[in-house]
Amino acid sequence: ESGKLWGGRFVGTVDPIMEKFNSSIAYDRHLWEVDVQGSKAYSRGLEKAGLLTKAEMDQILRGLDKVAEEWAQGTFKLNPNDEDIHTANERRLKELIGETAGKLHTGRSRNDQVVTDLRLWMRQNCSKLSALLRELIRTMVDRAEAERDVLFPGYTHLQRAQPIRWSHWILSHAVALTRDSERLLEVQKRVNVLPLGSGAIAGNPLGVDRELLRAELNFGAITLNSMDATSERDFVAEFLFWASLCMTHLSRMAEDLILYGTKEFSFVQLSDAYSTGSSLMPQKKNPDSLELIRSKAGRVFGRCAGLLMTLKGLPSTYNKDLQEDKEAVFEVSDTMSAVLQVATGVISTLQIHRDNMARALSPDMLATDLAYYLVRKGMPFRQAHEASGKAVFMAETKGVALNQLSLKDLQTISPLFSGDVSRVWDYSHSVEQYAALGGTAHSSVDWQIGQVSCECHRA
Ligand code: ARG
Repeated sequence: ESGKLWGGRFVGTVDPIMEKFNSSIAYDRHLWEVDVQGSKAYSRGLEKAGLLTKAEMDQILRGLDKVAEEWAQGTFKLNPNDEDIHTANERRLKELIGETAGKLHTGRSRNDQVVTDLRLWMRQNCSKLSALLRELIRTMVDRAEAERDVLFPGYTHLQRAQPIRWSHWILSHAVALTRDSERLLEVQKRVNVLPLGSGAIAGNPLGVDRELLRAELNFGAITLNSMDATSERDFVAEFLFWASLCMTHLSRMAEDLILYGTKEFSFVQLSDAYSTGSSLMPQKKNPDSLELIRSKAGRVFGRCAGLLMTLKGLPSTYNKDLQEDKEAVFEVSDTMSAVLQVATGVISTLQIHRDNMARALSPDMLATDLAYYLVRKGMPFRQAHEASGKAVFMAETKGVALNQLSLKDLQTISPLFSGDVSRVWDYSHSVEQYAALGGTAHSSVDWQIGQVSCECHRA
């Protein structure tokens, strides 16, 4: 006997290099718990179908509990022959309870087993990531709420654009993350479908009740087609894409903060807890946490692209290529977990320099408001834009700030300018004008906070 699950038709031994090449136990051992869970449900299905006696089922269930206990306590001993987690657990079950163990795999294939395990594992993990993501969003909302009255320059093309509330910037990133939060729930819905009972390709010929298996394992639905069920990894691809998009958002936020943290901007200061120093330059404090968040995005995209490439050329049904899905899932899950926690830490400990933010506001950023001033006096916007542009040009030529132009100067541009134009030069007044839902006015920022809070209390 070769000791392999599939040894019957084989002669001689496998090349040790091939043995190692083929083995997935080094990483799929993470599935030990869900593998036991799936096997327990399956043995109940076998009993119901009359393929196990009640006594045999109980023996198997007790044996599987023992296997799980060994894993939990770190006493499970792997054999060099344990090709993957399924092989290892069944081998150990046989050692513990004898030949009855050989009945557990009746009608089952590792093809439906592994994908069931992976879905169970991911379902649990998605819940964990979802909680971490909502924690981050909550942290951002808290800051947005507390720092609503801080104003600073908003940039487009990295050029000074218009004054905005600091909270509006925070929320711009939080809102993106709420879409990720929503998206993760959607992914989780499609993860939560049971493939067990599909066998290797053709289905189950022994009357196993898949509805019962579904209920046992608390899945939302069962897969529709055994060929598809054992070979599709859409739910993995969707998860990796979810992670990629979420990382895109976090990376962009990190990039903003790196920039805002430079001496040149000096809007924010990263806590020492999330920074590191230079081995050469004593004065340095580097935003490594943010840089690593930015770089992990690349790693996650790579896993997503890698999986899609693995899938795209596969002929129908299970192929060993699919074994590669798990490393992507585990690595990306670990990465996301770390990134979300670090981001939460960075945001909750970030210091802001309100004075520098205020000082960075300049009257030219109010040129748009100057045009709106004229619009309110009845001028068509295109003309108002032109007139305000002329004012900017006049100020530049005179070498003064836009708000230093005299009323007389402005009136040479348009007779609609009058004394009340002085109100335009007030930054707080400026932001308050943007009161339509989604804008940077106090009321709108409050509205956003309400909306985003709702999202992070869901799930
Ligand atoms: N370790 C394998 C995987 O991860 C389990 C399925 C093996 N099935 C097979 N027919 N060789 O995909």
